[in-house]
Amino acid sequence: MIFSSFISASLAAPYMVSALLLLLILEQLSYLVKKGNLPGPLFVPPIIGNAIALVRDPTSFWNKQSAMARISTGGLSANYLIGKFIVYIRDTELSHQIFSNVRPDAFHLVGHPFGKKLFGDHNLIYMFGEDHKSVRRQLAPNFTPKALSTYTSLQQLVILRHVRRWWEEESFSGGSRPVSLRNLVRELNLETSQTVFVGPYLDEEARNTFRTDYNLFNLGSMALPIDIPWFAFGEARRAVKRLADTLAVCAGKSKARMAAGEEPTCLIDFWMQAIVAEIKSGDPAPPHSGDEEIGGFLFDFLFAAQDASTSSLLWAVALLDSEPSVLSRVREEVARIWSPESGDGLITVDQLAEMKYTRSVAREVVRFRPPATMVPHVAAENFRLTESYTIPKGTIVFPSVFDSSFQGFTEPDRFDPDRFNETRRENEVFKRNFLAFGWASHQCVGQRYALNHLVLFIAMFSTMCDFKRLRSDRCDDIVYCPTIAPKDGCTVLLSRRVATYPNLSSN
Ligand code: HEM
Ligand SMILES: *[C@@H]1O[C@H](CO)[C@@H](O)[C@H](O)[C@H]1NC(C)=O
Ligand SMILES: *[C@@H]1O[C@H](CO)[C@@H](O)[C@H](O)[C@H]1NC(C)=O
Repeated sequence: MIFSSFISASLAAPYMVSALLLLLILEQLSYLVKKGNLPGPLFVPPIIGNAIALVRDPTSFWNKQSAMARISTGGLSANYLIGKFIVYIRDTELSHQIFSNVRPDAFHLVGHPFGKKLFGDHNLIYMFGEDHKSVRRQLAPNFTPKALSTYTSLQQLVILRHVRRWWEEESFSGGSRPVSLRNLVRELNLETSQTVFVGPYLDEEARNTFRTDYNLFNLGSMALPIDIPWFAFGEARRAVKRLADTLAVCAGKSKARMAAGEEPTCLIDFWMQAIVAEIKSGDPAPPHSGDEEIGGFLFDFLFAAQDASTSSLLWAVALLDSEPSVLSRVREEVARIWSPESGDGLITVDQLAEMKYTRSVAREVVRFRPPATMVPHVAAENFRLTESYTIPKGTIVFPSVFDSSFQGFTEPDRFDPDRFNETRRENEVFKRNFLAFGWASHQCVGQRYALNHLVLFIAMFSTMCDFKRLRSDRCDDIVYCPTIAPKDGCTVLLSRRVATYPNLSSN
């Protein structure tokens, strides 16, 4: 009070300006100290850092980080984004250091900039140690060969329904209307997840609200985290809550059916069957097995599955289009094993296992264009990463899965599915470079299911459709949304390639 009455406004202004200047200088100094000997810009714009460059053109922003990391001996580079110091990691073995040290006092997965606010704390990716392990153990029954084989029929029925719809839309336009596959494939994947995860427990109405809510969530996940009514972020939070509640109801219904000894027909059933069995044996209910928590975990599944799968399906179409010899080998292999025109029904599990080349193609799509190009983590403490560099507490680190895909493998810049065949086995030989599904304790739980989905889609789409990419200027450029997609959303001319639909009564 006394202070302010002594100093008039005109006198205070210079003090405020110098205080502000001091803060800005401290910000720069703190950046330079944290950066140490890493390559990176010497001066960063105050407060927002290089966020504008990142938002304007993420691809070239990350390419520059990668190029800087390449010329440095350590395989690291630094930058500054909205008050956060960041370290980009190009070297595969250094990325392993991050993935292998996810624990309370080292690295925490970020998932989404406002993830905890958006999803709530009960989220697989924010769990650690024994607690996390116990949930991962609970999830194992969801991805056994038997469970996966149940899903393959469900997946195919959804793929067929969508492909048939695409055909029909095409016949209206005489096969001459270009379609951007991005939204179509997103819809296909959302319906697949719904059906595979909780299918029988959702009626038509629930399915529709589910779609609307998932879209609200998507819009909000791109928005600023302002949690008041009518703002996208608040809408998204409420949508997530409704979705998780719906999924919790499904968990309850599934428990009742499994307790009555019925056969599992979707993912939640395999999960609840194990839990119900444990309770029946007289043991207490396992931790995190209440309906609400299960609903929350199922939402994580949905979120984790959706964008990554959409990305991989789109790149598969784009790459098959630009590599005609690969496409014709896929078609040859599939035709030898499965042919709807000879009266075959759905692809059986044995037939799927026989499609070795198609599986190599799927693996190569994921290597060549890993959907999540980086897996950001935050350092909870200082972490000594190399002899000469310690990651300061609070740093966001970006291990680049994308860069690892182009290290080790023979001629890594070639799209070459044969690298995964039984002679070359590069999936074993260069296992440590295949980081598209992450590594160590938090490695993708859905990876086998995700690869099956990609193989099934490639087999069915290339057998049932003729497609030609409408190539526009730089259509193969990588855009971040935030998993990667071809810039044009994969725009194709599409037409029907087979005269008959698979015989669904023969399975
Ligand atoms: C091509 C498709 C997919 C890709 C590229 C992908 C990639 C990833 C990556 C990079 C991670 C982080 C791993 C780590 O931190 O080590 C992850 C985690 C996860 N993924 Fe996937 N994923 C895909 C599909 C799926 C599907 C279909 C599901 C669900 C069935 C799924 C469920 C999850 C879950 C639940 C986690 C968190 C695991 C944990 O924190 O313990 N993902 N995924
Ligand atoms: C694997 O691919 C290579 C060509 O890259 C080929 O020479 C070899 O015969 C293939 N092996 C199998 C089992 O197909
Ligand atoms: C479809 O399969 C069923 C059962 O195998 C068979 O009876 C029927 O004739 C088949 N239909 C066609 C059109 O092939």
